[in-house]
Amino acid sequence: MIRTNFRGGEGGGFNYPDTYKMIVDLLPDNANIVEVGVWDGESTICMAELIRDSGKRVKFYAVDSFKPFMIDGVKHQADYEIYFFNTEHVRNYIHTIICDSQMCAKFFDRSLDFVFIDADHEYLSVKADIAAWLPKIKAGGILAGHDYDMEGVKKAVDEVFDNIEQFKNTVWLKRL
Ligand SMILES: C[S@@+](CC[C@H](N)C(=O)[O-])C[C@H]1O[C@@H](n2cnc3c(N)ncnc32)[C@H](O)[C@@H]1O
Repeated sequence: MIRTNFRGGEGGGFNYPDTYKMIVDLLPDNANIVEVGVWDGESTICMAELIRDSGKRVKFYAVDSFKPFMIDGVKHQADYEIYFFNTEHVRNYIHTIICDSQMCAKFFDRSLDFVFIDADHEYLSVKADIAAWLPKIKAGGILAGHDYDMEGVKKAVDEVFDNIEQFKNTVWLKRL
């Protein structure tokens, strides 16, 4: 996606628009979905645009703490102002929640059709994110996440699930 008014664009590593398209095609009308980890909004915008273009009624929650977090031992921090600027054109399709992932999961019951985890990539965090969001997904729903090629992510995912699907070696996906 090339957007002339898009700020940032280096940190998120968004490379899964095809997976998001597949998910939106699968979603029922009146679906509830969550993306955990928005960074500067690239993946969030993609999902929001797909929902808008599908004509389906989908409640899309985008969760991010905007606090420092680790990827491969390196500290990063997302900037809410950049995210807010970038998502302006699709704001009607996104319910942004500024909250820690695991804390936020507590506010949901088992009502979700899809959750995508792309937050802190350390092993213990991914493990805790999976444990927090898995019980919130309906039977027949989907839990997925990014960066399966990272050691900590892969270890956490493999300890919970057998037979995950993989896309572009970086997205892991489990149909429940
Ligand atoms: C890799 S970036 C997300 C990239 C985005 N999905 C994309 O592809 O454009 C990770 C994001 O997760 C957020 N994050 C990290 N740990 C978190 C936590 N415990 N709770 C909520 N958000 C968190 C960070 O603030 C950051 O914006």
